[in-house]
Amino acid sequence: MRKLLVIVSLLLLVILSVSFTAVIIPAGNLRKIYSQPASAWPKPFVDDGVEWKELGILPASPAEAKRDSLREIIELGKILFFDPRLSSSGKISCASCHQPELNWTDRKERSVGHEGAITKRNAPTIQNSWFYHRLFWDGRSRNLQDQAFAPIVSESEMNSDMPDVMRKLRNISGYRELFKKAFGSEEIDPDRMTEAIAVFEKTIVSGKSRFDQFLEGDKKALSNSEIRGLHLFRTRARCINCHYGPLFSDNSFHNSGFSNNDAGYYKVTHKDEDSAKFKTPSLRDVTKTGPWMHDGGMKDLPQIISRYSIARFPGGADSLLKPSGLSAREQKDLLNFLHAISAEPLPFKKPVLPR
Ligand code: HEC
Ligand code: HEC
Repeated sequence: MRKLLVIVSLLLLVILSVSFTAVIIPAGNLRKIYSQPASAWPKPFVDDGVEWKELGILPASPAEAKRDSLREIIELGKILFFDPRLSSSGKISCASCHQPELNWTDRKERSVGHEGAITKRNAPTIQNSWFYHRLFWDGRSRNLQDQAFAPIVSESEMNSDMPDVMRKLRNISGYRELFKKAFGSEEIDPDRMTEAIAVFEKTIVSGKSRFDQFLEGDKKALSNSEIRGLHLFRTRARCINCHYGPLFSDNSFHNSGFSNNDAGYYKVTHKDEDSAKFKTPSLRDVTKTGPWMHDGGMKDLPQIISRYSIARFPGGADSLLKPSGLSAREQKDLLNFLHAISAEPLPFKKPVLPR
């Protein structure tokens, strides 16, 4: 009996000390480790061939440095972005689906456009869109100016046609003045219009997150759980294989197994291996841009994390995806880290439309 007691208490001691080293000591260590410059952080768990970049502070948009010289074009682009007269019904503007106070999304699974039509995919935020090499979930557009044509003429979005939009704008004297200020003459054409919208969009960026504050030296900005989440994101959870760099995206396309009957990037390249691939979205502000994924099909971030951690990925899914077997607590840490890289939208003043 006494022997049994000794064994039981020894066992208890072992369990206690193991859980102490697993929980309490590493938390302090991790804080120390991640308080160093990123070059001294632990090596991430990245597969061979992945040209990853370290996570980092939100970079400024390249438009920022040119803000003064582009002021008039930015102003024109902002007005066009908010003007429902670009739609055939006169009711829908770009901002109907990309709302500033909702981190430039619409918070809908899929968007509602012309006469209640439902779009095929989820409306992504336009924050930080200057960063992407290709636009749209399937990458079918190569730059923001080209992208801006699409929603104006899309039947399920603004349902206009270009000559019509041009006629309407040319009849508004306020626009003739605005185009003159921006481009030097009153001429209104599709290229000028989409260029102004694109330049404006390049000024729309995320706010500073607590992760940025932490990296800038405010070591209280992240909780222990968030630091554990950061570590998991870079290591066992393997998120950094695709969501890397200061914008948490590799600017590339993957089949992450969330697809349902959408050919995705295949429609652009017509290569079988690109079937069901979608653009890796930035994860900045991700807790505020749901529902998630190209089809808005995921309504719940914990569910996304648990699917990434324990799923048996379907055939065709990217080989970078490997079940990480995170515990419930680790999944919570990862979720908390996603909160730490999410910020409120920057204050924004809506423009007055010209007559
Ligand atoms: C009816 C809703 C709706 C309207 C109106 C709308 N959009 Fe969108 N927007 C979407 C949806 C949905 C997508 C994703 C479509 C896809 O990827 O196939 C999207 C995608 C985008 C993207 C790509 C972002 C990325 O990360 O790839 C940009 C930029 C954009 N829209 C800008 C605009 C502009 C500029 C206008 C006005 C000219 C506009 N949108 C009007 C719903 C809308
Ligand atoms: C193989 C590359 C890859 C890896 C690894 C990966 N992701 Fe993703 N992630 C993607 C792609 C691609 C999408 C868009 C998929 C879609 O829309 O169908 C995405 C979408 C998401 C979204 C939804 C974002 C939005 O705006 O809709 C979240 C959240 C997310 N990933 C979190 C994570 C987390 C957390 C991890 C680590 C556990 C991770 N991802 C690992 C490629 C990856």
